[in-house]
Amino acid sequence: MSEHILVVGACGQLGTELVEELGKIYGRDHVIASDIRQGEDEVFKAGPFETLDILDKKRLGEILEKYKPSQVYHLAALLSATAEAKPKLGWTLNMDGLFNVLDAAIEFKIGKIYWPSSIAVFGPGTPADNTPQNCVMDPNTIYGISKLAGERYCEYYFRKHKVDVRSLRYPGLIGYKSDPGGGTTDYAVSIYHDALTTGVHTCFLADHTELPMLYMPDALKATLDIMHAPAEKIRIRSSYNLAGMSFSPKDITASIQKYIPGFTTEYNPDHRQAIADSWPNSIDDSDARKDWGWKPQYDLDGMTRDMLINLAPRYGKTLGL
Ligand code: SER
Repeated sequence: MSEHILVVGACGQLGTELVEELGKIYGRDHVIASDIRQGEDEVFKAGPFETLDILDKKRLGEILEKYKPSQVYHLAALLSATAEAKPKLGWTLNMDGLFNVLDAAIEFKIGKIYWPSSIAVFGPGTPADNTPQNCVMDPNTIYGISKLAGERYCEYYFRKHKVDVRSLRYPGLIGYKSDPGGGTTDYAVSIYHDALTTGVHTCFLADHTELPMLYMPDALKATLDIMHAPAEKIRIRSSYNLAGMSFSPKDITASIQKYIPGFTTEYNPDHRQAIADSWPNSIDDSDARKDWGWKPQYDLDGMTRDMLINLAPRYGKTLGL
């Protein structure tokens, strides 16, 4: 019998796609999707699904007992903008959820744990360009503080309890299959939908705000690559810097205009501007490249083309690309 994989927070932007990818590798019957509520996406109907509030340790134990997974991908979290609106919940969910999974890894002898960190671990004192793996880290959002604390806990559990936990500091993730929720980088997803519908995007960030981003196929590849790499290759047990591309709202607008010339963006920065301003412009991910062979495939125009091709049918459009 092949191994079972549990994905916690499966209904989110990353989880939905990861369940599908893991299903291709391990067999969909061997991938247990779980989230606080039943997922509606087709991918969840094709295999086992368990409702799970990751703060409910007893229920987590029951699921682990039932399936005995060899790997757990723990993705449940509140993202940056949502956690600022609900700071107590953001802290509790992001930290206690991680503790429950790390403790369960010891108790249930789970072979490998995946837990995502973020560029939000960096802050205003961090060098903004080509941000190194190790540098000043002074996050000033609840989300960023919880991710930095989480990184330290992951490393601690690896050293002290030999939990094989692996992690990536994701930039903003962009994909067409599932919608993001509550992130500061999420404008870079809605902009494509607006380009295909109204033809105008109102951006909550200023035109020059450069942020590190990653296209979903690259994010999935990075996630699976780090999880499948031999343990000795994973030298960094807090979380790896990871980069794909960096762009501003102005750059992505220009990229979309190459395919949809009449498209425009208006700028109306809100509270999320301050969050974006505290994050890096670009990331040095040389450790990931060196240790386990990371290499992204998509640049901005390549991503734009692929996003538009895949989203167009949803809106009854043909772009002739
Ligand atoms: N995409 C995330 C956010 O904006 C960053 O990890 O919150």
